[in-house]
Amino acid sequence: MGQGTWLMGEHPTNRNDEIAALRLGLDLGLTLIDTAEMYGDGGAEELVAEAIAARRAEVFLVSKVLPESATLRDTVEACSRSLRRLKTDHLDLYLLHWRGRVPLAETLEAFQLLKRAGKILDYGVSNFDLDDMEEAFALPFGDEVVTDQVLYNLMHRGIEWDLLPWCRKRGIPIMAYSPIEHSEAGQKGMLGNPQLTSVATRHGATPAQIALAWLLHQRVVVIPKAGKPQHVRENRAALDITLRREDLVTLDRAFPPPDGKVPLEMK
Ligand SMILES: NC(=O)c1ccc[n+]([C@@H]2O[C@H](COP(=O)([O-])OP(=O)(O)OC[C@H]3O[C@@H](n4cnc5c(N)ncnc54)[C@H](OP(=O)(O)O)[C@@H]3O)[C@@H](O)[C@H]2O)c1
Repeated sequence: MGQGTWLMGEHPTNRNDEIAALRLGLDLGLTLIDTAEMYGDGGAEELVAEAIAARRAEVFLVSKVLPESATLRDTVEACSRSLRRLKTDHLDLYLLHWRGRVPLAETLEAFQLLKRAGKILDYGVSNFDLDDMEEAFALPFGDEVVTDQVLYNLMHRGIEWDLLPWCRKRGIPIMAYSPIEHSEAGQKGMLGNPQLTSVATRHGATPAQIALAWLLHQRVVVIPKAGKPQHVRENRAALDITLRREDLVTLDRAFPPPDGKVPLEMK
């Protein structure tokens, strides 16, 4: 389990709380921090820099390049800008945020250049469906893609049909974003579900914790975003929940797995 940062660094009034939340997460062992040049137009990366100041070595730092910056030259420049904002000399992982018009081969070449220069230790992709992954892996340097970060939670299980098994077979970890369904409207549908609530009650947990524990049970990386310390503590505690067979059956009934191909969804 790591920590997401989308919508952080956007409102000065939330800044201190957000920094405190990220630091608390580090204290609790949630040392993967996921950010992107897009978030707050670089503001999230600057906030992360402040949160991890003097603690860089503890952190597994992930950032992302926007598809419009994903040419050979612009990717290298975008990475330099991210490193400057993050006040570090390297990223642990650099992702292409989603596919755009730039040929994938060019972005992979840029990632390879950055990797050889030590500016990134690894690279990966985000919002890639199975056909995109197959295309990437057929290209030079494509087989060095180490992850695909995608929308995955109880309400969005489409990847279980094909993408998740494909990645598992190759030992490529999936990073599940929006694990607790991000928006208030989405959360009402998911966290308000009576069956999810009944599983939560059985464990003396909250529905959000069960949603996270379910994802962890699927053996994926989860990156909840929490700007409130109470949420950070709750999320960390989800790591200690072990779901039983009866819980999984209840959750499958409430949130059925796919019975056919579902095109990858995106937030
Ligand atoms: N690659 C991509 O295209 C992509 C797309 C979306 C997201 N992401 C990444 O994934 C991260 C997580 O996704 P997300 O931010 O979309 O959604 P999320 O983590 O599913 O949901 C965040 C929302 O849930 C609330 N929350 C956190 N912990 C909670 C808890 N224990 N109980 C109840 N509510 C809780 C947060 O509130 P507070 O902030 O008030 O605590 C916030 O409003 C992002 O921050 C970003 O790093 C990547």
